[in-house]
Amino acid sequence: MDKVSIGKINSFCPQALFMYGTYKEDGTPNFGLFCWFSYCWDSELGVMASIGQRKLTIDRIHASKVFSANLVTEQLLPLADYLGHTAGYTPGKMDIPIAVERGAVLDVPILTDSPWVYELEVNQSIPLQGNEVFICKIRNVLAATELMDETKSLEERMKSAAPVIWESSGAGLYYTLNPVPKGMTGDWKDLFRKEQ
Ligand SMILES: Cc1cc2nc3c(=O)[nH]c(=O)nc-3n(C[C@H](O)[C@H](O)[C@H](O)COP(=O)(O)O)c2cc1C
Repeated sequence: MDKVSIGKINSFCPQALFMYGTYKEDGTPNFGLFCWFSYCWDSELGVMASIGQRKLTIDRIHASKVFSANLVTEQLLPLADYLGHTAGYTPGKMDIPIAVERGAVLDVPILTDSPWVYELEVNQSIPLQGNEVFICKIRNVLAATELMDETKSLEERMKSAAPVIWESSGAGLYYTLNPVPKGMTGDWKDLFRKEQ
């Protein structure tokens, strides 16, 4: 495969999207859109979230040390795009018709219509230049009951979750997933093993 060296970009590397929820000083919720989200292991499953520049979400995480991460779905995409393009410092950002509840374990706002929500507590934070990485403990996962329905196949449940992914070429594009199972973990594990 011919290749070219290019700049430091992450095109063609799909990213899951989450809306992070925090409570503002006055107790009302704020949400922003985030893609620099991944997982880590620290004696149990944890979350790594990278947040850059000055923004309300980071201020509120500093103040409360907790936030929610709400999976973006096809249905929630217009809301997510709005939240990702409107600074929390803009008056009235959250004067919008959305259903918000309180977390089951932490004092964090969560989006009623997101089918997969992490309740996160910051365990460690790593300041970078103009950015910060938060290593978080997952205090709870709130999952839509449909996603836990074992009478349905995983493929069916993945389709019903309908997560949206984002890829950052140009201005960036959102994509839906058309989940087609391609095999189970381990199906090819012996492919290149030498005979013992
Ligand atoms: C697709 C998309 C992904 C984004 N991902 C991140 C991210 O991972 N980290 C970050 O700091 N900002 C990210 N942003 C920018 C924030 O969503 C944006 O600054 C938003 O205003 C933050 O909300 P807040 O000001 O209420 O905190 C992203 C924006 C978009 C459109």
